[in-house]
Amino acid sequence: MPEGTYYFPEGFLWGTATAAHQVEGRNPNNTWTAWEQEEGRIINGQTSGLACDWWGGRWREDFDRAQATFQNAHRLSIAWSRIQPTPDRWEETALDYYREMLIGLHSRNIVPMVTLHHFSEPLWVAELGGWENPDIIDLFAAFVEKAVEALSPYCKLWVTINEPDVFALSAYVEGLFPPGKKDLKAAYQVMNHMVRAHAKAYAVIHEIQPEAQVGLAYHYRHFRPAGWLPMDRWMAGLFHTIFNNLFPRTLKDGVFNAVVKKDRIPEAIGTQDFIGLNYYSSDLIRFNLLAKSRMFTTMSFPKDALLSENGFIASQPAGMEACVRWGRQFGKPIYITENGVEDSTDEMRPRYILEHLQALWRAINDNAPVLGYFHWSLVDNFEWERGWTQRFGLWGLDLETQKRIRRPSVDLYAEICRLNGISSEMVERYAPAALPELFPPA
Ligand code: BGC
Repeated sequence: MPEGTYYFPEGFLWGTATAAHQVEGRNPNNTWTAWEQEEGRIINGQTSGLACDWWGGRWREDFDRAQATFQNAHRLSIAWSRIQPTPDRWEETALDYYREMLIGLHSRNIVPMVTLHHFSEPLWVAELGGWENPDIIDLFAAFVEKAVEALSPYCKLWVTINEPDVFALSAYVEGLFPPGKKDLKAAYQVMNHMVRAHAKAYAVIHEIQPEAQVGLAYHYRHFRPAGWLPMDRWMAGLFHTIFNNLFPRTLKDGVFNAVVKKDRIPEAIGTQDFIGLNYYSSDLIRFNLLAKSRMFTTMSFPKDALLSENGFIASQPAGMEACVRWGRQFGKPIYITENGVEDSTDEMRPRYILEHLQALWRAINDNAPVLGYFHWSLVDNFEWERGWTQRFGLWGLDLETQKRIRRPSVDLYAEICRLNGISSEMVERYAPAALPELFPPA
């Protein structure tokens, strides 16, 4: 068997990613907390509850875990609803708490990346119409100003918005996230306002902190036609244009091109210093005249792909390489801001991690400017409408006791972070089935 190591560039960031609502627990003025109370919204009626109890202080022990396992970066988000619980109130104690968390990361030699919007808002914002109301552009900018004023001494890497594509689709087309709409016109408006809000936030952040690095985290899906029919190919292209390209292209040329409708947003041009990419899986697209409510499309995974526990993710590492190649067109440094798999037994995760990192290495070896990788996630957390049925943590979480469960992937990822690479010997120990593919015989 060939032996070797795929090394990553010097100074590469190795971390994990989390989001406020998914880990903090007890978040009273938030759209998701309210949504969880509504019948039928979350699988099995589950709620975020205490989540990982970070608001109760357990971030300390989880950051200790990250440090002890050689992670040197962490991406977290802050909750707008805690910092501005009502329109006329800024909650300084919440800002103090986040400040303490960021100092806590620095003291553990972990570089923070902070996301300012990750799928949730204060209730009062939703009552005003949320992202459908253009007022949100200024409201979001005011929140960003307040938060960045307070936290910029401790953070230089900012993600304004997490996955605008998933947010617009899930909240305004599929009806799975609050406000639960199925309205393409509203989705168009939401995306349009998100571009404008991002552009304004970008300017606000740079005004306060000229050396800041500001980007978004895009969810990239690699869409391929399921068959040879021209309509399948056309549909796959359409999904790519709207889901993947719409937002970042507008930041490049100022044209917000949603195919059926166009707009100009010149102030968005040049408003990203890096590209954040969340990559999980890829889809086959088939045109289906009967699927009107799904935009005449059936999506599937390739028949031979390894599927995650609930079938939510198919392991398709080639998509990681495609994702980075796509991200390169914007001419900015790239961070993989999320990548991971739901797997409570850790049967699939080690192999998934190794295969995706090798695909990432291939892209880097081809000169892609990738600066870091954040695994989703540090510890199992609340998976939105899927509740607690999906477990993405390196560490598992026992919800009853708040105990963390050390999965084998913890040790694998620790070895990767320490070595700054993946070795044949690691693959042999953690995922021998992947050996012929990752280290093929000569
Ligand atoms: C989201 C995370 C989520 C993850 C896994 C991403 O789309 O940004 O919040 O937990 O997927 O479902």
